[in-house]
Amino acid sequence: MGLIAIITSMNAIEKTKDNKLIAVILPFTSAFKGIADEQKEAIDLAMLDFTDYSVIYKDSKSDAAGAVTAFNELLAMDKPPFAVISCASWVATALHPLAAEADIFHIVIASADFKRPVPKHTIRFTIDASQEEKQLSNYLNKFKRIAIYNMDNSYGNGWKKTIENNFKDRIVEVIAYDPKNKDFTNDLKILKDADPDALVLLSAGNGALIAKQARQLGITAQFVGTRPIERPELLVESEYTNGLVFTYPTYNEHHPMIALFTKNYGNAPTIFGVEAYDSITSLITATKASNLSAEALFDWYSGTTYTGALGEIHFDNIGDAHYPYMYKEIYKGKFITAPFQYEMLLNDAKLVIVKAFNQLENNDMQLEESLSDSDFYGKIISRKVTNFPIEMWIMKQDGTIIYDDNRSEIGLNIFTDEIYAAYHSLLEVARKMSSTNNGKGEYTFLDIKMKKNVTKKIIWTSINLNGNEFRLALTHLKDL
Ligand code: COI
Repeated sequence: MGLIAIITSMNAIEKTKDNKLIAVILPFTSAFKGIADEQKEAIDLAMLDFTDYSVIYKDSKSDAAGAVTAFNELLAMDKPPFAVISCASWVATALHPLAAEADIFHIVIASADFKRPVPKHTIRFTIDASQEEKQLSNYLNKFKRIAIYNMDNSYGNGWKKTIENNFKDRIVEVIAYDPKNKDFTNDLKILKDADPDALVLLSAGNGALIAKQARQLGITAQFVGTRPIERPELLVESEYTNGLVFTYPTYNEHHPMIALFTKNYGNAPTIFGVEAYDSITSLITATKASNLSAEALFDWYSGTTYTGALGEIHFDNIGDAHYPYMYKEIYKGKFITAPFQYEMLLNDAKLVIVKAFNQLENNDMQLEESLSDSDFYGKIISRKVTNFPIEMWIMKQDGTIIYDDNRSEIGLNIFTDEIYAAYHSLLEVARKMSSTNNGKGEYTFLDIKMKKNVTKKIIWTSINLNGNEFRLALTHLKDL
């Protein structure tokens, strides 16, 4: 062996990974500083419980090149970290092959636009934009003239393409902006001239400024946004941002992390902090249950359900997380769960059921069987309501359940089956449903897994098929 080969192999030996060190690459010096700071605060909070691990933070600056430099600095360390957590779609895509090559386990957060060429290596906590978009389009569907104003990066441009594909004939103007800008008026004048009835803002921290300048210019279009738009700045400018509707993950607002974060930092976390917190706590849990190779850590996540501040997160075999999204809204200066969504989803589901049955020639028997059939639900109803934090069921007026998201209840009768007997508020609502063709109420019953009692809100409507009347019900947890 020559001298150079010996030195190289000694370096390789020295560069074993530090199995207590986790690297976190965040966009500290960029237009997304507020997001990076929040993610760091959440990770610091989580690390209070894990004193035997340490975190090294690196600045990705504003683009993929900055992230690659930061990653190479980590690799050059004597003992590089065993895992890296990174933020932003453009960073995820750039670092994924590098981390895979160096066999450093990779978790990506705040990365809705991301493809992985290397399997079994990277876990993603963010729901893909293509999933979120299905939910957003339910709402966007009611607009005829849609304009898009998007950050000029892979997140904004990826999303823009998806919306353009889905609403080809309704797009009246599309402009990309540099997220470092502070004055958007020239672009907004062009957007105003296009006379949109909805303006989609694919924005993060500067969404507030854009909304303010847009309203000051006289743009009256409905503002519509996506996950990254929920930033504290929006509430400071609520005079201009009230009414903004956006898609947003559900998470467990009662998780101790939320109160602790609020106490320590003076404001509640957004999804960026919540995601960052779960990424590091789950990673440390994973290290305790498996060895530290990228493959073993990936296998720990893949196909499992982890319960964290995001609620129940299911990881598929590719390594993508899944959890529900819903519509939020700014109302009187506060972020709230948009109340319109339940009625909207119920009516959407009703319309698709009626349409599907008008295309079939069914006798009464087939009608009930079809309604009870779970692909029917898959093909017809779920396209409209998938991934919202709701449940649906269909009841005959005599109390027979002919469809329920919890399949084990199909065929039972609310008025006669024993499992319902102790739930008086449910029986009362069901009696009202039997005699009234639409309404709302509240009851206590088991959750979808039939494990614990929960209080649900319900709205129902009627579907008349071949002269048979059915009640279609939508429920959601009371405190959502
Ligand atoms: C994303 O890429 O999905 C993000 O949320 C990035 C964020 C820094 C705006």
